Amino acid sequence: MVSWSVPAMKPLVIALPGNESLARRIVDRCGGIQGGCELRRFPDGEEYLRLDGELAGRSVVIVSTLNPPHERALVTLLVAATARDLGAARVGLVAPYLAYMRQDERFRPGEAVTSSYFARLICDAYDWLVTVDPHLHRYASLDEVYTIPTRVVAAAPDIASWLVASVDRPFLIGPDAESEQWVAAVARAMDAPFAVLSKTRRGDRDVEITPPDPAAYRGCTPVIVDDIISTGSTMIQTLRHMTDTAAPLCIGVHAVFAGTAHADLTASGVRGVATCNTIAHPTNSIDVSLRVAEATASMLKAV
Ligand code: R5P
Repeated sequence: MVSWSVPAMKPLVIALPGNESLARRIVDRCGGIQGGCELRRFPDGEEYLRLDGELAGRSVVIVSTLNPPHERALVTLLVAATARDLGAARVGLVAPYLAYMRQDERFRPGEAVTSSYFARLICDAYDWLVTVDPHLHRYASLDEVYTIPTRVVAAAPDIASWLVASVDRPFLIGPDAESEQWVAAVARAMDAPFAVLSKTRRGDRDVEITPPDPAAYRGCTPVIVDDIISTGSTMIQTLRHMTDTAAPLCIGVHAVFAGTAHADLTASGVRGVATCNTIAHPTNSIDVSLRVAEATASMLKAV
């Protein structure tokens, strides 16, 4: 008796504009083929979308980091619907920055818990998700809100390697309680000392941070590590406590940098700012794309 095995179809990888280099890395790592995406805005502000490539029957990987959230979220949902309409067998999302994770509780009566609603939209549209260090504060894991299979890539090993190569005697500082997960992982990976401060947030740009103990980092290079740099207020308020030391370095996983945040931060007496390439920005010095490609390859094998 002869048994025939049908060769699996190669996955088709489609980058939304700005995600091309990560998509190429995923294509190389997964042995996939690259598709195309034409995206433009009609004069009235609606999106025009066209996908290129043989989608029918294939696993399709959409690479779309979710920043800026308001313009990327809708397109990322529409592209999944288009892929399914064109016959994709499965549609997965690689979103190195996963937006809408921070509103994880109803702090005031009537508030929307957008992290949960946004997760539902993504889970209805996609079969799986790969992301990098999602903002997990009051959720212990992504599975509490995302019901599809997920892979979370940790940036800590790449941040640690970069610090080992670039900074002499680093002392790591996490500006708030939730940053402990990231700062402790980086510290462990490079055997460096660290401390975690505490933050009270009173408004979008109004935060208070407890001062670090200067004795702890004397003779070291202070390095503030956080997952997201958005308005920069968290970093700037932490820096304000540290004028008595060598200028600190700021490391963020996700370079959101809302408005003038990057300029504000660089004007605040910082030694330098380094971020991971989950959102394209001139401060991207830490490359996490290989780990993202590996996680995507492993997800494609599992689903
Ligand atoms: C939330 O607590 C995050 O971990 C960051 O600390 C926060 O998003 C930073 O925001 P901003 O730069 O606006 O202070």
